Amino acid sequence: MKNIFEAPFIKEMCEVTANMYCLGWDERNGGNISVMLDEKEVGEYLDINDVIRTIPTGFDAKELIGKIFIVTGTGKYFKNVAKDPENNLGIIRIAEDGTTAELLWGYSDGGKFTSELPAHLMSHTVRLAINPENRVVMHCHPDYTLAMTQVCEVDERKLTRILWKQMTESIVVFPDGVGMLPWMVCGTNDIGIATAEKMKQYRLVVWTLHGIYGAGKDLDETFGLIETVEKAAKMYMLTAHLPAVNTIEDKDLKALAEAFGVDYRKDFLDL
Ligand code: 13P
Ligand code: ZN
Repeated sequence: MKNIFEAPFIKEMCEVTANMYCLGWDERNGGNISVMLDEKEVGEYLDINDVIRTIPTGFDAKELIGKIFIVTGTGKYFKNVAKDPENNLGIIRIAEDGTTAELLWGYSDGGKFTSELPAHLMSHTVRLAINPENRVVMHCHPDYTLAMTQVCEVDERKLTRILWKQMTESIVVFPDGVGMLPWMVCGTNDIGIATAEKMKQYRLVVWTLHGIYGAGKDLDETFGLIETVEKAAKMYMLTAHLPAVNTIEDKDLKALAEAFGVDYRKDFLDL
C-alpha cells in the first residue's frame, strides 16, 4: 500500500485549501470542497473494503451509489488542512442505500463531512449528467462576489452581464453565465436542491449574501472559474461608483465569444 499522504488527491486538496485561505475566500470554517475520486487510484492507498464508520447523509444520492469522494470536514478551517489533512478531510463512499456515507479515511477526531454535502452531491449528480468528466464541486466566500450580492438584484442575466462587461476574459471563461439564488438558509437539503437546479444551466452559482459554488472537471478548472468571477466582481466593486468611460459593448461580447469559439448565453446579450 502506498503512503496516502503522498497521494496526489491529498496533496492537491492541501494546496488548494491553503491557496483559498490566503486569498481570503475561506475565513474560519468557511467554504467546502468535494472531489470525486477514481476507485482504482484510491485502492492504491487504502483498503477500500475497510469502512471506519458509517454516517447518515440525510438525503438520497442514489445516482452516486458506490462513488468515492474526498470532502472537507464540517467546522474545519481551510487554514489547517495542509497541517493535518487526516483530521480536516475525509474520504467517503456513498453506500448501497444511497443515504449513508461510508468513511474510508479521515475525520480523525470523530468529525464528519461538510454541512453543505447536499449542495455538493446534488450538484455532482446534475453536472455529471451534463459532463461525465465533472469531478469537483467547490464552495467559498470571496469578498467582492459577496459584496456584489449586496448591491445587485437577484437576476442572473443582469449579474452575468455586469461580470462579462468588467473584463475581456469573463465571457471566454464562463460563457454559460452565472446562476444566482436569493438568500436562503445554508446547510439544508432545500439549498442543495435549489443549487443543483441552477447547475443544470450554470457551472457557477452565487448564493446571495453568502458565497459562490463552482463545478468543474478538476480543482484547477473549478478554482479558475471562481477566480475569474471574483476578479470581475472586484473590478465592478472598485469602479461602480465612478463614471464609466470605456465599456465592453454587447457587440464586443459577441465578437469575443465568436473569436474564442465558446458557446455563450446568446439570450443574455441585447443585440
Ligand atoms: P462547513 O464547515 O460545514 O463546511 O460549512 C462552511 C460553510 O461555508 C457553510 O456554507
Ligand atoms: Zn458557506
